Amino acid sequence: MTAEVHRGLEGIVVTESELSRVDGEAGRLIYRGYPIETLAEETSFEEVLSLLWNGELPDDDGLAALESDLVGARSLDDDVSKLVTRLARVDEIPMAALRTAISALSSTDAGADSFEPTDEAEVLETGRRITAKVPTILAHFHRVRSGEDPIPPRDDLGHAENFLYMLDGAEPDPVSTNTLDTALVLHADHGINASTFSAMVTASTLSDVYSAVTSAIGTLAGPLHGGANQNVMRMLLELDESGMEPADWIREELDAGRRIPGFGHRVYEVKDPRAYILSEMSEELGEATGEPKWHEYSLAIEAAMAEETGIPPNVDFYSATTYYQLGIPLDLYTPIFAMSRVGGWVAHLREQYANNRIMRPRARYVGHEDREFTPLSDR
Ligand code: COA
Repeated sequence: MTAEVHRGLEGIVVTESELSRVDGEAGRLIYRGYPIETLAEETSFEEVLSLLWNGELPDDDGLAALESDLVGARSLDDDVSKLVTRLARVDEIPMAALRTAISALSSTDAGADSFEPTDEAEVLETGRRITAKVPTILAHFHRVRSGEDPIPPRDDLGHAENFLYMLDGAEPDPVSTNTLDTALVLHADHGINASTFSAMVTASTLSDVYSAVTSAIGTLAGPLHGGANQNVMRMLLELDESGMEPADWIREELDAGRRIPGFGHRVYEVKDPRAYILSEMSEELGEATGEPKWHEYSLAIEAAMAEETGIPPNVDFYSATTYYQLGIPLDLYTPIFAMSRVGGWVAHLREQYANNRIMRPRARYVGHEDREFTPLSDR
């Protein structure tokens, strides 16, 4: 009997998870039972980390304990600092620099070579350590490549606020902090997406958390996944430069057979629920900065895509203009996605290690059978 091939693993259910439910028909996303709209409105990224990692929203003490653990783990040790500085000086791609730095973190963890996958506390502790350091790595990298000194993390600022502070040395205004914090909440988990699956595959061999997160970062970087957000902004900048009408631009791109970044999704058949929230934030920022054109381009592109293809926008479409209007450098958009999604990866790793079976699919072999062998001397 010939096995059916599921290209891209479409429709394949590989595990059970209590973390997030992506309802592609209704356009609904929940984390552990809470709708994304409520979490975006009411909770901080740190609360969401606690929800994903520990199963419940934290009370005051629980939240304070997690925040303090994260703050305590923010700094980079000398070797990793030097490595990040070197990567910045050779102008490495930010996602590649992040991947390399996270991989290198294991060398500074005394317990890394005695990793015990069934020790949930150790998995979460390592996950916290990595999560805490991602913003520091990114800000250090960006400062050095911009010819400036890195700014050490501050103990009195939250995750989002401290990242913006480390990027340019000034305390961010509340709107910027809240916008980034909400964006982090929105990106924290999303079922078994490609990067999460990649982390799970690595963990399923009982490899360690650093390796699994390193795999996930490499997977998130691609333009079909996390890399789409920066491509959206590149497209908007090119469109602006061209002076073309957005609808004409989209028609030309589609006629040329190109995919429009920020549109389409394997699971959502309707507009991504996160895109509604990001669209509102993008619009508000446009009004606040007095430059609504970026949001207006986005609305026109969404309308043109609906007309030409019926394909709705995904999370990356409006996150691009949101980050742009916060003044964040374009090539940090995907690393910011990683800064958030690492929370989800860690939560999924915990589930995977707790109930592990090695991931080992098969291919249908379509190559030659029974070939006659010719020795090297006769070929
Ligand atoms: N622009 C134009 N056409 C698109 C498209 C896009 N962004 N996304 C999908 N399509 C079209 C495909 O060309 C295909 O058309 P066809 O059947 O006529 O060939 C159809 O929609 C189905 O696409 P498919 O590639 O089978 O969907 P998928 O589930 O494998 O891919 C994505 C999902 C996300 C990879 C895909 O939509 C995409 O490449 N989007 C752009 C990148 C992006 O925004 N990624 C971030 C995702 S959160």
